[in-house]
Amino acid sequence: MFTRVQFATLAAFAATISAVRADLPADCARNYTVRLGDTCDKISAALNVSTYQLAHVNPQIDAGCDNLGEGEPLCLGITGQDCATTYVIQTGDNCDLLTASQNVARSTLLANNPNVNSDCSDIYPGEVLCTADTDIPYAS
Ligand SMILES: *[C@@H]1O[C@H](CO)[C@@H](O)[C@H](O)[C@H]1NC(C)=O
Ligand SMILES: *[C@@H]1O[C@H](CO)[C@@H](O)[C@H](O)[C@H]1NC(C)=O
Repeated sequence: MFTRVQFATLAAFAATISAVRADLPADCARNYTVRLGDTCDKISAALNVSTYQLAHVNPQIDAGCDNLGEGEPLCLGITGQDCATTYVIQTGDNCDLLTASQNVARSTLLANNPNVNSDCSDIYPGEVLCTADTDIPYAS
């Protein structure tokens, strides 16, 4: 049997969970529920959402993506600011290879992936970039 205190704690915990679940932005275009074993880049690659966009839309995720919780709802993109044209970085990729293979202007690539530095030297295999050929109007 639960004591009253345990029950109250459980009720508070349940309320916290439902508060988190209700936390998706009203203008969320796509959502996903975190599964055991997920990583941010795995979610990004599977669901066509850039590494930048996933982090930008879900500021509750920490910088190392170490705090995903099973069952946690994530928004994958905001309506009107949702890049679903993506590419997963491979070993050996660089700015020139990317702009040529993905047919996107370098300025557009850099504008849509503000986490990437101007010479693309900080990209890494498994990172997911938005490769849309128009600028996505991300709200700051
Ligand atoms: C999440 O997406 C599903 C289907 O894609 C939709 O039915 C549901 O309403 C969405 N949830 C929220 C909170 O936006
Ligand atoms: C991701 O994009 C690829 C290439 O356009 C497409 O084949 C695939 O169905 C997309 N996956 C999802 C989950 O949207």
